[in-house]
Amino acid sequence: MFCVTIISMEEMYTFKWDISMSVGEDSIDKQHQQLLAEVNTLLDAILNRHSEDKVENTIHFLDGYIDKHFSYEEQYMSEIGYPDREAHIAMHREFTKKYNNFKSELKATGVTSELAMEVQSYMGQWWMSHIKKEDKKYHLYIIAREE
Ligand SMILES: [Fe+2]
Repeated sequence: MFCVTIISMEEMYTFKWDISMSVGEDSIDKQHQQLLAEVNTLLDAILNRHSEDKVENTIHFLDGYIDKHFSYEEQYMSEIGYPDREAHIAMHREFTKKYNNFKSELKATGVTSELAMEVQSYMGQWWMSHIKKEDKKYHLYIIAREE
């Protein structure tokens, strides 16, 4: 007998923040939630073939928001004296490079299903794993310091 599990598109592609991802700083937690929400919006706009305007508006918002978030977080790491700040910043720069490549590709090819896959892996999954693993490290650093 076959057992078929039907997973909705939404479940497959939606990136969700939960409390286990908290880094112990309210503004950064809120920024992370907003970033994931915007990635979901972008993915939804691409997958459901919303207007190019919707895709462009979301990207325009992300452009500014990602920069603002990275600057805020980098400043925060400096304030708390996080020793691995430089390595962390390098990861942010690496992401920005990929993000810019993605934008060039979008400009060149328009909205394609390959691009949706990129948003899913390079953006959604990158943010999820970056928040859970890398951002979590400065949270753990503070906890250890306070003990
Ligand atoms: Fe980060």
